Amino acid sequence: MSDSQTTHESDSIGVETTATSTTTAGETDERIEDDWIDYRFEGTPKLSVQDLDVYYGDEHALQDISMDIPEQSVTALIGPSGCGKSTFLRSLNRMNDRIKSARVEGTVELDGADIYQEGTNLVELRKRVGMVFQSPNPFPKSIRDNVSYGPRKHGEINTGLLARLLGQDDTDEEEALVERSLKQAALWDEVNERLGDNALGLSGGQQQRLCIARALATDPEVILMDEPASALDPIATSKIEDLIEELAEEYTVVVVTHNMQQAARISDQTAVFLTGGELVEYDDTDKIFENPESQRVEDYITGKFG
Ligand SMILES: Nc1ncnc2c1ncn2[C@@H]1O[C@H](COP(=O)(O)OP(=O)(O)OP(=O)(O)O)[C@@H](O)[C@H]1O
Ligand SMILES: [Mg+2]
Repeated sequence: MSDSQTTHESDSIGVETTATSTTTAGETDERIEDDWIDYRFEGTPKLSVQDLDVYYGDEHALQDISMDIPEQSVTALIGPSGCGKSTFLRSLNRMNDRIKSARVEGTVELDGADIYQEGTNLVELRKRVGMVFQSPNPFPKSIRDNVSYGPRKHGEINTGLLARLLGQDDTDEEEALVERSLKQAALWDEVNERLGDNALGLSGGQQQRLCIARALATDPEVILMDEPASALDPIATSKIEDLIEELAEEYTVVVVTHNMQQAARISDQTAVFLTGGELVEYDDTDKIFENPESQRVEDYITGKFG
């Protein structure tokens, strides 16, 4: 867009002289064009979101979001604070169900089946669509127990005296699972000699990779990550970024980040949410960062607001 279209000008009596105006948040008013969010890609979508609205009481946090998320790739969600990124992420595995005031309308299909339909098994859903949070939240248990927590909870792994007496001891399976998951999360080399140590003794970056290992141990298909590296130093961050790219070879990864360079580095496609809970533009990451259609997206990416 040319400068004349983008600058905000008022004449001496305060009448707008351009087609655009500025909101209090510093964003330019513009109408979202349908094709800015109509992202086309090859292959089948892993997740298909249709006409999604989320409310917290009277607050309309997400407005009519429709987007398809391709499998085995990294989708980045970016946008200013409060625009609904976490809300959107939580709607993909029904974590918003846990928030009393939250109300969700619309559909989210996982492999073509609506996760909001009656009778959905939420335990099974969250096993298929795992989540990693902003601050690492390992349990105050051993590293080993953190990784095998999910499969234990689901009754897939039994150890201890009773299991041994019943001839159902899964200690070998557990060791194999812990090793596989920690290797996938690029943590094995750092912790394999102290699997029995308390996880809270690990560094922040190690704790976050442990949480990723814990999510991987339940054998998910989709991994949702909400600013997974925002609490970490640059070295730990770059480990997480490398890991995310590797995970996308096998899993569908959806990651919220405030860090534009990070989104540009690690994602295949990027969805930009802006104030008011709207999806403004969704496309290949290169396109979003190099030549976005929306002036507001360009302003956000170049740091003019947000
Ligand atoms: N549990 C909740 N109860 C009430 N309102 C909420 C709740 N969670 C989020 N909201 C509101 O919904 C809107 C979107 O919030 P959300 O946390 O999804 O934004 P976000 O884009 O993730 O922001 P940030 O970048 O700061 O994490 C905000 O106005 C927020 O205040
Ligand atoms: Mg958030």
